[in-house]
Amino acid sequence: MKIEFNKMIILFFVISYCSAQTIIPIETKDFAMVFKTDSQNRLWNIYFGKKLSDNLDYQHINEQYYFPSSNAGMYNAAYTPSGTWNLSEPALQVKHFDGNLSTELHFVNVETQINNEETITKIKLNDPVYKLTVVLNYKVWSNLNVVEQWTEITNNEDGTIELNKYASANLYFTNKDFYLTHFQGEYLKEMQPVEEKLTQGIKTIETKLGTRAMLLGTPNFIVSFENPQNEDDGLVLLGQLAWSGNYKIDFEIDSYKNLRLIAGINPYESNYSLKKDETFKTPSLIYSISNKGTGLASRQLQSWAKKYRVLDGEGDRLTLLNNWEATYFDFNESKLSKLVKDTKDLGLDLFLLDDGWFGNRYPRNNDDAGLGDWQENRKKLPNGLGYLVKEAKKNKVKFGIWIEPEMANPESELFKNHPDWIIKQPERPEKLYRNQMVLDVTNPEVQDFIYDVVDNLFTQNSEIAFIKWDCNAVIYNAYSAYQQQKGISQTHLYVDYVLGLYKVLKRIREKYPKVPMMLCSGGGGRADYEFLKYFTEFWPSDDTDPIERIFLQWNYSYFFPAITMDCHVTNWGNQPIKFKVDVASMGKLGFDVDVSHMSVKDLEFTKLAIKNYNGFKNIVLHGEQYRLSSPYKNSFASLIYVDNNQSQAVMFSYLSSNRFIERITKRPIKLKGLDANRKYRVKEINLYPGVKSTLNELVVYSGDFLMTLGVNPEVDTKRTSVLLLIEEVN
Ligand code: DGJ
Repeated sequence: MKIEFNKMIILFFVISYCSAQTIIPIETKDFAMVFKTDSQNRLWNIYFGKKLSDNLDYQHINEQYYFPSSNAGMYNAAYTPSGTWNLSEPALQVKHFDGNLSTELHFVNVETQINNEETITKIKLNDPVYKLTVVLNYKVWSNLNVVEQWTEITNNEDGTIELNKYASANLYFTNKDFYLTHFQGEYLKEMQPVEEKLTQGIKTIETKLGTRAMLLGTPNFIVSFENPQNEDDGLVLLGQLAWSGNYKIDFEIDSYKNLRLIAGINPYESNYSLKKDETFKTPSLIYSISNKGTGLASRQLQSWAKKYRVLDGEGDRLTLLNNWEATYFDFNESKLSKLVKDTKDLGLDLFLLDDGWFGNRYPRNNDDAGLGDWQENRKKLPNGLGYLVKEAKKNKVKFGIWIEPEMANPESELFKNHPDWIIKQPERPEKLYRNQMVLDVTNPEVQDFIYDVVDNLFTQNSEIAFIKWDCNAVIYNAYSAYQQQKGISQTHLYVDYVLGLYKVLKRIREKYPKVPMMLCSGGGGRADYEFLKYFTEFWPSDDTDPIERIFLQWNYSYFFPAITMDCHVTNWGNQPIKFKVDVASMGKLGFDVDVSHMSVKDLEFTKLAIKNYNGFKNIVLHGEQYRLSSPYKNSFASLIYVDNNQSQAVMFSYLSSNRFIERITKRPIKLKGLDANRKYRVKEINLYPGVKSTLNELVVYSGDFLMTLGVNPEVDTKRTSVLLLIEEVN
């Protein structure tokens, strides 16, 4: 590392001396992105691809390789300004203090800091006319081929400026063809992949929903080069904009058929003013690069997330029983006490009390009242939460609680007492989403209120061990009374909302650094790597039908490790309990069921499966995941999780479609991730009481055999879900 760093410094010197041009390579273990200045000191993105063994070679890259010159089309700027020479989609649009709309950026210097496994390169650019500085930041985890990129814009002009567009990243790729996979959806049908070949023009993925920002589409994407994305082959860039509000990512095929990618906060109604000497730091674009398809790209990103990003990403997770689907709003102390006992009987770690526990003047007996009034409902819980916390303790399980602290029903004391805390247009009728409205989190008083909701819970019941933080509404009628009163432009609302929320979360984490918190947004509405600095996990969807969950979890797994995904067994779907538990065991296992409705055998199976999960969860939560058989291409889905020593693995296989099933039993599935030279035994686990495995667990296979010929889990209409434990034989 050190040598490379020194080499880089020398490289700048030599090239600057010979040609007055500077070359800046940003390198990972296998890839490089290279920038070069021109004679006017503008900075261009000249290469993205395999890393060259000698980085001095990058100086030979010039126009003859990729960039035919044309006055109208100069697309590959490292960060494209507007109002001067650029006539394409910009990364940066600024209204300067004097109203001028033109910006130009010249290279100033570059600095690299190496910090253990992270290298940060900061490229400084400034406008030769206006005192505006832009720093492009590239943080690289070389071994994982993961890059986090963001931009800092500083105003040193003589007055306030307005940022009209302020992208996080501006990338440029040259290739023959580009394919984009993005993920669209709706409530109960989140994260649905759409793959398309990009054609000339701009393809945009974006949201304007404000809070439950990812409900209809996510800031995740896969770009594959030359061919459609493939699990094991080809160059892919798999990325996400880590921003929990409105985002916009443009994929533009320019007139040279190259790809420009500009990602950032959605500029929609978000002009942002920056006072003199202030700096705006954009959110990060995070991406993993692989030349061995999406499988490796996902594993790199998942490893990065566990090790460097997600709160307690290498820690443990608590299995739980949630009362939501067992009771909805209709519960009392005795019903809940019974569920607490069930939690223990099943062998789970925690009981989670969901929506409906609060509100007195406006009791929360359904979703049209009480939201915002975070006091125990005296009718349902006459002895308060403390009683339930004690019940949990008595049963040796932990206790967790649901909140939705950014919201209020109009039928609530909060709404009546603080109408100015609500986002709504003063002169227009209110527009509700799930009978509720969004609090104005730009307002510091609201930030304190949200902080206090959490802090009071913990101070009154220090043994609360888990929070489920929900968010069920979007922002309609965007208007902040607070910002109006303070003379802040209304166009700050969408951005300051998110920044305000991060501020609250940071404060909560300063006082409660480790308490696990689930990021829930009616399912799938929120899941990103900025939020996951504060949350340990997220709720992918309210759709818990296990067949749908196979697809959903498959799609989320491109970007997120199993440890971040909450997967619950519920009454959704007609599949047997074994199928449901097996599917939910591919993430953080939970249950939303009333045990009294289960048959004796189902209960017996469930208890056994929870025990088994506790035995192998280490592999699922902390190991490497390989997607083996796609439910999009076959009638069955299969995935394997391999521990970091390659000595144990768990393989999950499901019948995911009833079409053409006759073919599937004849096909073994090739395993991945094992050591070819070691020996393994394959044992079927999670068998339903009375069912015998069709596999012979005494056979010893080499890893080579299992990865070359494979194993047939014999999934069919009678064995719709098969779970295999693969263990090294010494
Ligand atoms: C939406 C969540 O996704 C559900 O799990 C549940 O917590 C409800 N909100 C409660 O209102």
